[in-house]
Amino acid sequence: MDMEIRTNVSLRAMNTFGMEVKAACLAEYSSVEELRSLFPEGNLRSDLPRPWHHIGGGSNLLFTKDFEGTVLHSSICFAEEAEPAEDGKVKVRVGSGVIWDDFVAWTCRRGLWGAENLSLIPGETGAAAVQNIGAYGVEAADIISSVGCFEPATGKELTLDVSECGYGYRRSRFKEEWKGRYIVTSVTFMLSGNYSPRLDYGNVRSAVESVTKGADLTPGVIRDAIISIRNSKLPDPSEVGSAGSFFKNPFVSGDVFRHVADVARKDGLGDVPHFLSPDGSIKIPAAWLLEKCGWKGAVMGNAGVWGKQPLVLVNATGKATPDEILALEAAMVRSVQERFSILLEPEVEHI
Ligand code: EPU
Repeated sequence: MDMEIRTNVSLRAMNTFGMEVKAACLAEYSSVEELRSLFPEGNLRSDLPRPWHHIGGGSNLLFTKDFEGTVLHSSICFAEEAEPAEDGKVKVRVGSGVIWDDFVAWTCRRGLWGAENLSLIPGETGAAAVQNIGAYGVEAADIISSVGCFEPATGKELTLDVSECGYGYRRSRFKEEWKGRYIVTSVTFMLSGNYSPRLDYGNVRSAVESVTKGADLTPGVIRDAIISIRNSKLPDPSEVGSAGSFFKNPFVSGDVFRHVADVARKDGLGDVPHFLSPDGSIKIPAAWLLEKCGWKGAVMGNAGVWGKQPLVLVNATGKATPDEILALEAAMVRSVQERFSILLEPEVEHI
């Protein structure tokens, strides 16, 4: 099948927020060779409109207007499992276009440990490695071994070890100084055939126990528990448009934390939930700050805030425009800044 290149395309189905925006051009490739053919001599083919922007499942972005250039999308879909090593570790290489949760389900069916806590996160595998997706005490970087990339400027393919990718909380070099330099084409994960559940985040242990009722733990059982936690807190992407957590959790200094604690004391907000990080900064859940500013379930025009998790902005009526989401975002940021002197940063990429 020839590569699909379409012009004047609605992106509604390609962003989980369901924004009705258009791209001048959309190119979907299904192999590295096809991707290479889009960049002859190191630049985007001259007949395609520029700039180019690469998307994954569109689950972590907000198109703020029509896109005048070419949107690229990977349909490189495969999964290869290597023979287990003596220590039970198993390497699995996965194409960037594989739906993330299909990959997680596949690992669980094989009884491989490592990805199960990341069940039901929307998006695709290539984007998971760019975003360093994380949930329930696990980040993609914990199980990535290396990332296969294509470099448009040189036409070369290369493999980057996980240690080179600059992973941190929702961070990677792919999102930062390597943006536009590399396109992720595959990701190699290091999973394990050995019993290794991770149950220490929040209510994961109790949710797992209520599913197993004493039976043996398997990756599939943990997957079921994670899915039930997510379904109880987060909107179903097939019913309500959203991009998951819209804001990052802020990491603040001791001074800022004391200020928040003072405000909480004066206003009778109770203890401030917080987590110490190894670098000495303090993580305060953005969800708590937003809840205390009254944002849970708020509605502004067609845009809204999810009633069970205020980090999640939603396309409440299905008709929200980018401007309505941006106005809601601005109002939320302003209120947290005014009350707690913390500037929330979006996790969702604005294009
Ligand atoms: N909280 C509130 N009110 C709420 C919800 C939460 O005060 O309505 C406070 C509580 O103190 C709670 C804490 O926030 O203990 C943490 O809440 P939660 O476990 O739901 O996690 P989060 O920090 O709000 C992060 C990720 C989610 C991920 C969950 C679970 C970010 C930006 N978000 O949310 O990721 O599912 O942890 O691991 O780090 C996503 O990125 O799209 C996403 C959904």
